[in-house]
Amino acid sequence: MKLFPLAAGLIMLFTTILLPGCKESPSNVNMESTFITDPHSYAKPAVSRVEALDLQLTVDFDAKILFGTAHWTLAPGHGDTLILDTYDLDISAIEIDGKGVAFLLGAKDPILGQPLFIPLPANSKQVSIRYGTFPGARALQWLSAEQTAGKKQPFLFTQSQAILARTWLPCQDSPGLRYRYKASIQVPVGMMALMSATNPQQRAADGKYQFEMEIPVPAYLMALAVGDIDFKSVGNRTGVYAEPSMLEKSVYEFGEMEKMLEAAEALYGPYAWGRYDVLVLPPSFPFGGMENPRLTFATPTIITGDRSLVSLIAHELAHSWSGNLVTNATWNDFWLNEGFTVYFENRIMEAVYGRDYAEMLAGISHADVMEEIVDLTAQGKADKTKLKAQMEGEDPDDGVGPIAYDKGYYFLRLLEETIGRERWDAFLRGYFAENAFKSMHTERFIDILKKELTEEEWKLIGPKAWIYETGMPANCPQPESQRFDAVRLKLEQWRKGEKAAKSEYSQWSAHEWVYFIRGLEAKDGANTPLLDEEFGFTKSKNAEILSVWFVYVIRNAPAHAQSKAFKEALSGFLTQVGRRKFLMPTYRALKETGQLEWARTVYTTARPNYHAVARQSVDALLGI
Ligand code: BES
Ligand code: ZN
Repeated sequence: MKLFPLAAGLIMLFTTILLPGCKESPSNVNMESTFITDPHSYAKPAVSRVEALDLQLTVDFDAKILFGTAHWTLAPGHGDTLILDTYDLDISAIEIDGKGVAFLLGAKDPILGQPLFIPLPANSKQVSIRYGTFPGARALQWLSAEQTAGKKQPFLFTQSQAILARTWLPCQDSPGLRYRYKASIQVPVGMMALMSATNPQQRAADGKYQFEMEIPVPAYLMALAVGDIDFKSVGNRTGVYAEPSMLEKSVYEFGEMEKMLEAAEALYGPYAWGRYDVLVLPPSFPFGGMENPRLTFATPTIITGDRSLVSLIAHELAHSWSGNLVTNATWNDFWLNEGFTVYFENRIMEAVYGRDYAEMLAGISHADVMEEIVDLTAQGKADKTKLKAQMEGEDPDDGVGPIAYDKGYYFLRLLEETIGRERWDAFLRGYFAENAFKSMHTERFIDILKKELTEEEWKLIGPKAWIYETGMPANCPQPESQRFDAVRLKLEQWRKGEKAAKSEYSQWSAHEWVYFIRGLEAKDGANTPLLDEEFGFTKSKNAEILSVWFVYVIRNAPAHAQSKAFKEALSGFLTQVGRRKFLMPTYRALKETGQLEWARTVYTTARPNYHAVARQSVDALLGI
């Protein structure tokens, strides 16, 4: 790192004293986002903004690093300093329009990283940063060949949301700031590289790949994956990328993707991004899915062979409108991304699979949010049950949960039910069209909504209570699922000792089984071995079923939880799967039932298989 005290002092002076009064403002930028203050970024867009990136990187699997140059084009009319977000980057040189300049890295914050200050001569055009990552870069997961399905080649993938783009790219890492990008990525010969951009469908003979994302996107949607990956088309605009041994299964699983895309367009307007493909990642992917534009990243735990978990694809596809077109301005407005997306996901599922199916999803969503409100309130964190979040000083990754997703969903569902579906859908179509490629604040959404609703509707719904108050408002809609009613009935009968005939549940989806298991109470604990024998939960291949079953047994059936078969299944799952949503409740259940030591032992083996995002959460939980 270079550090010139004099230049540093001057830059500090510029930024702390001169910048706030700076009269110059970039000319061609979305002014609304220019004045957003994002507590999770050091960028000062009112002073200087970037509008395009040309990224040239080499992927070095031996050293576990990326290295190369990021060429940033500045928006015209910039001020005298550019501030970028960085987190543990090895910056070797910076040039402005071909001339080397001194730069300064500010103090490191453990969550936000370091601001990179670059002094800009008047009328600068391009800032080129030569840099490399370190092997521990938090967005990146480097998997050895043994950690992949095919075991032939290593694998790399990124996870940039929420604020990890800065751990592999010096950038203005704020969801309210967008830029176009091109990239040229050199990978070892024989491997495929993919990004959130135009993608190849075949491997390049020389391992060199060119990408382009001509639509401006925020940094959290930057993505890269490299590995032993093949492609197969599913529909006109849809396809699947996966390791060769996973490809056929994935193509079957996502066979209805094109239908989903058509249903989504029929609901809320044309798909803006060209192709929609899905990349199936190795099991350590820390999320279910990530809506990287043109290329959703997905966990392999949804490849179940029966298409039972494809609502996750509907969810990530829906983000192509809610999130990628209309983007939360800051992570405090995260519910605008996720609440809208859960709502849209549900509507896609209803259109493709029927109301009955969609109401099951809504039922699970309701159970999730009500449970979360009880938990958070009991922990004295009722403030965290507000839709509009206050994440200053916290890691925005910690705000991912049922409040933004499911409370957000129910708020929008209430709007639909109050003003009628026809009017609500027309409103949403207009909302996406008018705000496309812009960022959205909660407060601006409230203004837009206010214009749509009559005074009476406004009072009836109470949007401000939904958004700014804790808990669940009394007017929360109730899902009605006949399929879940049938599950409840079966559970009651089972409790009375009446065995159900196989034919009565052989058609159940994973959602029905999840609902069944979640309906079990402490008093059913003694019957757990019987349940397991009859329904084979511990042997299930479906991760959603397994994870709720594990938690139920650990908490309510201590003897069964100690059985060899159960412990093997549990430790196998925890070692294989790195999806945080499954890991956290399971490790928490172990910790809270006096099995912290065993949990730590399993975790010691499993940890090298997890992505940094999952490690961070589990480390904190288990006190590692
Ligand atoms: N964008 C999120 C994942 C995310 C959110 C990553 C915040 C990092 C920070 C993605 O769309 C998502 O919601 N994934 C869910 C899918 C589920 C709701 C269908 C997941 O991973 O579980
Ligand atoms: Zn989402």
